[in-house]
Amino acid sequence: MQNTHSKLGDRSLFPDLRARAYLNHGAISPPSTLVRQAVQQVLSDYARGGVWGFKEWLPRREALRGSFAELIGAEATDIALIPNTTTGVAAIANCIDWQPGDHVLTFSGEFPSNVTPWQVAAKNFGVELELLPLAPMMRSVDEGIAALRSKVRDRTRLIAISAVQFQNGLRMPLGPIAAVAREAGAELFVDAVQGCGAVPIDVGVGVDYLTCGGHKWLMGLEGAGFLYARQTVAEKLVPRTAGWLSHEDALSFLFHGPGHLRYDRPIRKTIDFVELGAQSAVGYAAVGASLGLIASLGVEAIYAHVNTYLDLLEPRLVALGFESLRRSDEARRSGILALSPPADVDITALYAAVDEREVACTIPDGNLRFAPHWPNAFSEVPVVADAIENALRLTRTTT
Ligand SMILES: Cc1ncc(COP(=O)(O)O)c(C=O)c1O
Repeated sequence: MQNTHSKLGDRSLFPDLRARAYLNHGAISPPSTLVRQAVQQVLSDYARGGVWGFKEWLPRREALRGSFAELIGAEATDIALIPNTTTGVAAIANCIDWQPGDHVLTFSGEFPSNVTPWQVAAKNFGVELELLPLAPMMRSVDEGIAALRSKVRDRTRLIAISAVQFQNGLRMPLGPIAAVAREAGAELFVDAVQGCGAVPIDVGVGVDYLTCGGHKWLMGLEGAGFLYARQTVAEKLVPRTAGWLSHEDALSFLFHGPGHLRYDRPIRKTIDFVELGAQSAVGYAAVGASLGLIASLGVEAIYAHVNTYLDLLEPRLVALGFESLRRSDEARRSGILALSPPADVDITALYAAVDEREVACTIPDGNLRFAPHWPNAFSEVPVVADAIENALRLTRTTT
């Protein structure tokens, strides 16, 4: 795809961005000029045409399935459009044909999105949920996989993990985890929202389900994401959640005259049965525009760019007394640099001081987390490091 709009390290498509360094793409991305234009265009088209605006945008929204699929090495027919990551977890947790006593494994430290729906499934369907410590996986893939394998048993039905851990940035070894699942006859569920867009992800390694919101590393807006399910698992799901758009031939009663309004049409056997009703027009226009930029830059190139940025930033912060949680094994790195603060530092006070210095980051689970994306320039690094150093000094003298 030809790219005439964006360059790695160039934030000129974000002219109103206030932060001196915006390092919060793991939380919410600011919309680029292209995203804002796409949203404005949707609003204008709907304002002029109402349902005609809808018809104009529908083919573009449908084409998005292919763009999402391309991002993860999937087929467009295996993609459903959903509002956010959690909706995808909940849909699968609700629709698997659970048998009482089925066993689900996930990790302690996962974002609650990847725990709550399995807890609910445990209550509703008699499933047993087990949370494993993440520490062995942090130490090495071999240790992590051995620990995981030791917990897998006959009734293990599903392993549910995040592709990238939100609080420390660990990029999980999807291939080896998929192999453990396969050996056990279990399925693999992946929450990809902390990776997709900046970390290469390929469902071909053995991922059965994958869910992702659009407002973080995909750089769209809240309210528009996607869910992938391999066709062979999708067709076995029980449609415990379904709506008027879940049926085969769901729209004919609206367009083909009388005699088509029926309630007995089968629910589709593809994952898009989870699309229950009307979707976010602006949300999908936004993520469509940002995906175009990401595809033109290339996820591999973005991944290399953000890791060079973090390579520059990490030693400056370690020198200030932070402990980096970023792995030395390059394959375990993501777009996130998380650091635990020196023992004498109150992280919330430090965060407030960093915020005042207009460096945008977050403190999930008490770690200082930096999440740059393609627009972040390497020239920001000294600005960020100086801001943290100043904030650290201030925090120490005032607490
Ligand atoms: C790993 C992970 N999963 C899920 C979520 C929540 O995603 P959503 O709001 O799209 O459901 C977050 C948000 O920070 C996250 O970090």
